Amino acid sequence: MLKVDVIIGMQHGDEGKGKVTHHLLKNGGYTHCVRYNGGCNAGHTIYHNGEKFVTHHIPAGVFFGVKSVIGPGCVVDIHKFFDEIKMLREGGIDIYNKIFIAKNAHIIQGVHQRADSRETKLGTTRTGNGPCYSDKYARQGKRAEDYPILEDYLVDMYEEFYLANPDAKVLCEGAQGAELDIDWGDYPYVTSSHCTSAGACLNGFPPSSIRNVIGVAKAYETYVGTKKFQPENEVFNAIQEAGQEYGATTGRKRQCNWMNLPNLDKVIRMNGVTNLIFNKMDILETVGSWSVYVDQGRNNLFTFQNKEQFCDYIRNYFKDIEVVFSASPETI
Ligand code: IMP
Ligand code: MG
Repeated sequence: MLKVDVIIGMQHGDEGKGKVTHHLLKNGGYTHCVRYNGGCNAGHTIYHNGEKFVTHHIPAGVFFGVKSVIGPGCVVDIHKFFDEIKMLREGGIDIYNKIFIAKNAHIIQGVHQRADSRETKLGTTRTGNGPCYSDKYARQGKRAEDYPILEDYLVDMYEEFYLANPDAKVLCEGAQGAELDIDWGDYPYVTSSHCTSAGACLNGFPPSSIRNVIGVAKAYETYVGTKKFQPENEVFNAIQEAGQEYGATTGRKRQCNWMNLPNLDKVIRMNGVTNLIFNKMDILETVGSWSVYVDQGRNNLFTFQNKEQFCDYIRNYFKDIEVVFSASPETI
């Protein structure tokens, strides 16, 4: 029977989902890795055998010879897709017969890039994602199956997961995060796709196939875009610097703030999160400051003396699920 685990971003993207995907795939058991939303607006930083790779489209399964599928919930920039294949090949990754695009994924066209390049209101990544999804829903888009150049990579999700591999074990990898979800994020300061666990189901996986939902958070929050997010306080500049908080896709500075625990709780409940990982603990250790918001409006801050108090409080706050803290960019 088909079994699916889902990785979701708990905040505004850049939580370190790539590292968690890489870790879970390494430990085996998965036959497929499926990206389920977004496009080249995302940037996943992955350390494989000590070498750094930044991918935008291609799921991390490819590093372990696991079939990697860009799902129908995604949009694809064909040039960047082929650039990425080249980068992986040059990095010594064997990609033969490992990379696929769902026939019904949509393609980012020049007209989408041009429209997005003029965007100023939200601070998008200007990669054409929003306009591509607009055309998809206006039913005037183009899909992967419309492009002969992609022929060797096309996959039909039904044939692959129900006819050819009915016992597939799938790791679904989300892009961005719940706070950027088109429906549940801070609209209009959101992306144009479904970053939730439901978004994984939209790629052809029934809710009953979902086993674990792994939520990935960062021990502080970051956001890239036009809205004001970072409060006036030197500590956030220190976090920005220590955490090297620059967008993997656009190089923009990420605004920093403390974590919001009630918001995380909401995301846990609304996505059925079973496991939660907090990344970049090493950055807060470097800076030596430990705080969290305990109300959704970000008015009440709890400050801790040290890492142990911080971790105890968080473990207790989310006591119904398994919580892991990570302090290394390469491992969990
Ligand atoms: P778009 O997805 O390029 O349309 O951008 C919409 C908003 O989502 C902007 O605030 C972007 O900075 C943000 N965004 C999109 N993708 C990512 C990502 O992978 N990480 C962080 N922010 C992102
Ligand atoms: Mg990213």
